[in-house]
Amino acid sequence: MIEVRDLKKSFFTPAGELKVLKGINLSIKAGEMVAIAGASGVGKSTLLHILGALDRPTSGNVFYEGGDVFSLDDYSLAAFRNTSIGFVFQFHHLLPEFTAFENVMMPGLINLGSRVQGFKGLSFKEIVERAEKLFDELGIYARKDHRPGELSGGEQQRVAVARALILEPKVVLADEPTGNLDTHTGEELFKLLLELNEKKGITFVIVTHNESLSKQCHRVLEMVDGRFK
Ligand SMILES: Nc1ncnc2c1ncn2[C@@H]1O[C@H](COP(=O)(O)OP(=O)(O)OP(=O)(O)O)[C@@H](O)[C@H]1O
Ligand SMILES: [Mg+2]
Repeated sequence: MIEVRDLKKSFFTPAGELKVLKGINLSIKAGEMVAIAGASGVGKSTLLHILGALDRPTSGNVFYEGGDVFSLDDYSLAAFRNTSIGFVFQFHHLLPEFTAFENVMMPGLINLGSRVQGFKGLSFKEIVERAEKLFDELGIYARKDHRPGELSGGEQQRVAVARALILEPKVVLADEPTGNLDTHTGEELFKLLLELNEKKGITFVIVTHNESLSKQCHRVLEMVDGRFK
């Protein structure tokens, strides 16, 4: 599903070149649930952003189902990201002025009417139906018309998961999705991700510091000094 080859990423700062990723090689099968661990500042988020095509690497390749992602131009890359990958962040990044339901519909609305090749343009009705189904499945239906500020942390994160799933991506990338939740709520959220992996076969890459959660994944990869151990 995902193949990463000799991936390097440097940031160029006034103090000089900061080499963060120093040659990452990685192969993730469809339906796998992989945890990424490692000390703060080691480059986990940087890697996830590149896997999610939110940022380009300095060198190296990322292949999704054999296709070289970064050979795409920015426009096609944005289309690929929108339709193929779901992202869940540590802080939900929901839009505060919109209801939970509107937030979940958003990726579908962005893609309405677009003619970029590879877009699965959905109708407005289809987006509403999918969103309703997700709110039901994730146990937040009764909160769908609340704004993010009127939801608990766990509910907000469930809404963020629903938003990541609305376009039915094959891959979901999650950067410390439970990092901002109390232990119990974090476990519940993680259980939900495990269920989505098992029932829907979604491939997950999850950055987490929590060992009791990461050991429930199929594999745990530890990042040390810009590489996997
Ligand atoms: N845009 C940027 N410009 C310059 N340096 C950056 C940039 N983004 C990240 N860095 C640096 O790259 C390194 C890796 O950052 P990253 O956010 O990937 O770490 P992390 O492993 O996710 O850490 P944490 O567990 O604290 O979230 C850090 O030293 C950080 O300061
Ligand atoms: Mg991080």
